[in-house]
Amino acid sequence: MTKITAAITAVGKYIPEDVLTNEMLEKLVDTNDEWITSRTGIKERRILKGEGRGSSYMAIKAAQQLIKKKKLDPKEIDLVIVATATPDMQAASTAVYTATQIGAINAFGFDLEAACSSFLYGMSVAARYIESGKYKKVLLIGADKCSSMIDYTDRATCIIFGDGAGAVLFEPNEEGLGLQDEILRSDGAGREFLKVKTGGSMYPTTKEALDNKENFVRQDGKTVFKNAVFNMADVTVKILEKNNLTNEDVTWLAAHQANKRIIEATGKRINLDSSKVMMNIEKYGNTTSATLPLLLADYEDQLKKGDTIIFAAFGGGFTWGSIYFKWAYNS
Ligand code: UT7
Repeated sequence: MTKITAAITAVGKYIPEDVLTNEMLEKLVDTNDEWITSRTGIKERRILKGEGRGSSYMAIKAAQQLIKKKKLDPKEIDLVIVATATPDMQAASTAVYTATQIGAINAFGFDLEAACSSFLYGMSVAARYIESGKYKKVLLIGADKCSSMIDYTDRATCIIFGDGAGAVLFEPNEEGLGLQDEILRSDGAGREFLKVKTGGSMYPTTKEALDNKENFVRQDGKTVFKNAVFNMADVTVKILEKNNLTNEDVTWLAAHQANKRIIEATGKRINLDSSKVMMNIEKYGNTTSATLPLLLADYEDQLKKGDTIIFAAFGGGFTWGSIYFKWAYNS
């Protein structure tokens, strides 16, 4: 029997219209365009505005773009996974609402939360459902309204994050294309260094917590940076070694867009020419779960059937990993 692999067969994206530039941030906090650009590579990010709009608003739009491009009947979708660190609300799945809104009435759905590694882990999960042979169409969406957890008086965080969503469709492939191998890791000691303290079950929201602005994300940037550089590069080297690949076998590096210096360090560690390192952080900032599918959407025109893509991510938790992938179509 032919081995079934899990391939990506379509992508879609949505980014909100409102732009927050470095110059606009200069008016909110003590920062400047030169500092932000040289330290992070970010020039602007998108912000989702509008009463009652959460991550599902963007997830739905990204999925609808994919459905239209692929001419897909949403009733054929078996499963909708929304990778997100900013679900619409607690106890009610963003994925389930998204599935219903896009007409995926025969699908089941769930959210997957692993901070900035949510989409990477989601790729692994989506692939297992396809490889099982039981499911034929799995829609994986990375969507985050990061602005909902940002304190726009905190220059350590407000310059980094933006909002957006990207969607990919996983389908069975019999040519050996799609997900080849993965190394996924985590370390719970990392949660002290990047978190939103209040609003979960441990510290439910109180007036005092809100007064202390504990409902916003806080990070020890230096510690996260050091761990991200080391661990993302480490798993990227390891996935190549494990699969007997050299840098010449790699067509693209698709790394989580948190900081241009972290992405470049990962590329350098495997001696990859910078032209092979996907980069769009300058336009969107760090969109958490959406960075990897937004890269695929922005580079889709340049991707060719058989291209080798190495995915890598690092995020809060800590969570990190790398995936060895073969692209399945020419657009
Ligand atoms: O998505 C996964 C999770 N997140 C990440 O991967 C992010 C990882 N961390 C980073 O990207 C970087 O650590 C930051 C971009 C957050 C900060 O860059 P850095 O090079 O690590 O700067 P720093 O925190 O070491 O600060 C250097 C200086 C400090 O001044 P002094 O103490 O040297 O006088 C800061 O106070 O820059 C100052 N600074 C700023 N200056 C202007 C910190 N933030 C800003 C700012 N504008 N926004």
